[in-house]
Amino acid sequence: MRILVTGGAGFIGSALVRRLIEHTDHEVLVFDKLTYAGLLSSLEPAAGSNRYTFVQADICDAEMVARTLQEFQPDVVAHLAAESHVDRSIDGPGEFVQTNLVGTFVMLNQALGYWRNLPEARKAAFRFHHISTDEVFGSLGEEGFFTETTPYDPRSPYSASKAGSDHLVRAWGHTYGLPVLVTNCSNNYGPYHFPEKLIPLIIIRALNGEPLPVYGDGSNVRDWLFVDDHARALQAVFEKGQPGQTYNVGGNAEQKNIDVVTAICTILDQLRPRDDGQAYANQITYVADRPGHDQRYAIDASKIGADLDWTPSVTFEEGIARTVRWYLENQAWWQDILDARYATQRLGVANG
Ligand code: NAD
Ligand code: DAU
Repeated sequence: MRILVTGGAGFIGSALVRRLIEHTDHEVLVFDKLTYAGLLSSLEPAAGSNRYTFVQADICDAEMVARTLQEFQPDVVAHLAAESHVDRSIDGPGEFVQTNLVGTFVMLNQALGYWRNLPEARKAAFRFHHISTDEVFGSLGEEGFFTETTPYDPRSPYSASKAGSDHLVRAWGHTYGLPVLVTNCSNNYGPYHFPEKLIPLIIIRALNGEPLPVYGDGSNVRDWLFVDDHARALQAVFEKGQPGQTYNVGGNAEQKNIDVVTAICTILDQLRPRDDGQAYANQITYVADRPGHDQRYAIDASKIGADLDWTPSVTFEEGIARTVRWYLENQAWWQDILDARYATQRLGVANG
């Protein structure tokens, strides 16, 4: 198949592209604006392949989207391009509305025009796969899980913009017949994760001897999914999923934030002990909470398990150890980001 991946230079997109190049015969075109979060260095393992092409462009640019669809002739559009960081959406929501809502509208409209002109067999096989988040469902109490029928209740500018984009995708499926698929996924982690997000931020700040900021009391819960498991789920969905369906994807690995931070400290104590012999946990600092901070996310991923035979393969204990080791072994990748793009300072406390 020919797969057009928007946002392919980001954290999850690049994991998907590396997987498709390494483990399949599919041809891949990455369509990415290269914002602060887009990194060609994350695509280096795939870049040498003759099944890989890169186009630097904005999903809001209808002409470029149309031209790329015409020239590349994809069988699948895997739409991952987005502004993805909740804290940045608190500081500057406008970019989130533009990219996540308007950009998804442009992608849908151009994909529709392209799809309508395909020959019948290719038209029937085409898929527009929209990659979304569990944050659209809001925040859980101590009990329960998000399912595919949980009502939408987004509570941050980020999750509201993703919820709106999910609605647009389903509307294009329902009204125009575009063969759409939607996945809503929990928190990803693993190699090549941009250091604005909790896990890489804590690893890097720990190694740099800096305070480790835990928002509020650290009791918030996230359901962690190793990014390569997510890439495998995405492939299963666009290869075998039923058009018009939604699939929730989760790691079955709920953790309180404070336990995640403590786990990272313990692994670093073993792999790279501090020069002064002190524990990394001594660097933990409780800081002012994120405005509107959702308390708990947890995914019921039984539908994708039953329908597409996908389950997560990496436990949190294994995944977090692999992740810490990757950051220890790949300092050049993250040092470039610290020097030129983002130096792990606090985000998301501004007044919006
Ligand atoms: P990311 O921030 O790491 O990467 C986003 C990518 O999109 C970057 O390469 C960036 O350059 C590109 N991009 C941004 N605006 C663009 C535009 N206007 N035109 C073209 N490219 C643009 O994001 P991620 O963490 O890899 O997330 C990918 C997708 O998965 C997003 O849609 C996100 O909402 C969703 N998601 C993420 C997670 C998670 O835990 N990271 C969980 C569930 C869902
Ligand atoms: O649930 C899926 C979502 O997971 C994705 O849709 C988002 O794109 C992705 O960024 C992620 O959102 P979160 O807000 O959950 O991820 P983040 O890494 O920013 O924060 C994880 C938790 O850790 C959250 O409860 C806030 C907390 N936190 C975060 C940072 C950056 C801290 O306590 N300290 C920090 O410094």
